[in-house]
Amino acid sequence: MPSILITGANRGIGLEFVKQYAADGWKVYACCRNPQAASDLNALEGDITVHALDVSDLAAIYALAEKIDAPLNVVIANAGVGSWNIPGFGDMDYDAWKRVMDVNLYGAVATCEAFAPHAIKAKGRIAAMTSEMGSIADASSGAIPYRTSKAALNMAVQVIAPELAPKDVAIATFHPGWVKTDMGGPHARITAEQSVSGLRQRFEEMRPTSSPKFLAYDGREIPW
Ligand SMILES: NC(=O)c1ccc[n+]([C@@H]2O[C@H](COP(=O)([O-])OP(=O)(O)OC[C@H]3O[C@@H](n4cnc5c(N)ncnc54)[C@H](OP(=O)(O)O)[C@@H]3O)[C@@H](O)[C@H]2O)c1
Repeated sequence: MPSILITGANRGIGLEFVKQYAADGWKVYACCRNPQAASDLNALEGDITVHALDVSDLAAIYALAEKIDAPLNVVIANAGVGSWNIPGFGDMDYDAWKRVMDVNLYGAVATCEAFAPHAIKAKGRIAAMTSEMGSIADASSGAIPYRTSKAALNMAVQVIAPELAPKDVAIATFHPGWVKTDMGGPHARITAEQSVSGLRQRFEEMRPTSSPKFLAYDGREIPW
């Protein structure tokens, strides 16, 4: 059966990825910061192995990649943090901004890099969860740390894509929609189930290319 690795797999969109792929019989490597406390994840049935991983610990990402010596059909750099509670322009908190970058940018790029050899073995796909809030063309006010982390991740992936395309690996960033999770809040437009169902279709459509588009879960193209 095909295999998939997901970061931030204990709740929200990441948990839903585990649920849907495991239900379809995939082998799932589910990564989360605190496996012991991941009760929803541990309750899921299927071929799931849970791995402790804090993506702000870059060395831990590469160590896990050494341990998981298997081809991966899909890798999802999903773990992320918001920045709604960090003060804005005029009162910037640079330490807090750096912590957002550690997870959303460096942690995500390291996930792509560490598991690229596994994706190459499977001629697989790598997906990074960014956000339309990272679109410069559509920028509006607030959330500078979050927006810059996602815009930078979009850029990093566009640079990585032409390096992986000749190795038959597709990589792209995706906007999952405004999703009812802890991050998206209860007033969000769609459920995690709707988001992940759409994203899985988008992943199926991915092909190795040197200039991937920035797509939302429903196939809508988002301006950079
Ligand atoms: N929900 C939305 O509307 C929306 C919209 C656009 C983009 N996104 C993106 O989609 C992705 C998933 O979002 P979500 O809505 O599912 O968010 P969520 O419900 O807040 O879940 C975030 C996940 O990331 C994990 N995480 C945070 N920091 C981590 C770290 N240092 N190491 C490992 N895991 C870490 C969390 O684990 P803990 O439980 O340990 O904190 C949790 O599993 C994120 O990248 C987010 O930016 C979401």
